[in-house]
Amino acid sequence: MKPEDPTHLWQSFQVELQAVSSKAALTQLRDRYLSRQRGLLTLQLRGLGRLAPQERPRVGKSLNQIKGRIESALAQRRRELESEQRRAQLESERLDITLPGYLPPQGRSHPLTRVRREMEEIAVRMGFSVLSGPELELDHYNFEALNMPKEHPARDAQDTLYITENLLLRTHTSPVQIRTMERQQPPIRIVVPGRVYRRDTVDATHSPMFHQMEGLVVDEGITFGDLKGTLEVFLRELFSRDLRVRFRPSYFPFVEPGAEVDIECIFCSSRGCGVCKRTGWIEIMGAGMVHPRVFSMVGYDAERYTGFAWGMGIDRIAILKYRVSDLRLFFDNDLRFLRQF
Ligand code: PHE
Repeated sequence: MKPEDPTHLWQSFQVELQAVSSKAALTQLRDRYLSRQRGLLTLQLRGLGRLAPQERPRVGKSLNQIKGRIESALAQRRRELESEQRRAQLESERLDITLPGYLPPQGRSHPLTRVRREMEEIAVRMGFSVLSGPELELDHYNFEALNMPKEHPARDAQDTLYITENLLLRTHTSPVQIRTMERQQPPIRIVVPGRVYRRDTVDATHSPMFHQMEGLVVDEGITFGDLKGTLEVFLRELFSRDLRVRFRPSYFPFVEPGAEVDIECIFCSSRGCGVCKRTGWIEIMGAGMVHPRVFSMVGYDAERYTGFAWGMGIDRIAILKYRVSDLRLFFDNDLRFLRQF
């Protein structure tokens, strides 16, 4: 048998290689030329033996060259196909980073939390530390040490939620005054925000749970003037304006003298409206100079130290700041209301 022209074999291979566009087709092409049994080139090599001896070296060499070229052409095409495939895969998996993401629904702080934090921040700027105390309180701290012994009439004024005879839900944040003075020596400058509880029926201005922020300053030489100045600065910061503040003499067993503090009605600028009940003023806290008997309860020298304290209603202030008409809105957790803050 006359061997096919090896050059022709190379040319036909190249033409067929052009048409290959997948790895499977490439394998088929390889088999067609190089498979051990029936490969076109294999057959030619096998046929060498039938050639005249003087022809064999030349044809054999040429066939081997072609075999080498075919193999490297196959390998190169395989690499090309692989990188094309990789590129296509990357393209199909590409992330469009310019696409806007999905925003998770975002919560917000409760209006009472916002007011509390604002009050804390103002106090901290004025040099106070922020403390807290237990809501479940001993009779001793809620009443006794605050100069309200058993049978004291002031105990009736605060309708108390008792757990046991000696354990109750604190009716004010004032017990933290005692807890703090027991633990440390003057100078003291603290504020204490927190929940307090009283046996009240729920209506637009009452809730059995509400919030106060206690304040306590104790040092040598503290006067009622310091009390007035501190609270005026605090309230003007809180309401961001030059608000008028009024101190009315009042009675709390743990201060002497005691006062109730009013601010001008910010709804009507003191002209008189429904919110201030035509008085032009709104009461927002009790305050006073720490009673000497309270100092002696915690072992402070009442000759050396003086101090003042106040208890401010946080809910009341939130109502005024946000002009909310009904306290219950703060506790209903209606998102339509809460989303407005
Ligand atoms: N604890 C008082 C109350 O809840 C308020 C108060 C605090 C008054 C500190 C004077 C001094 O009514």
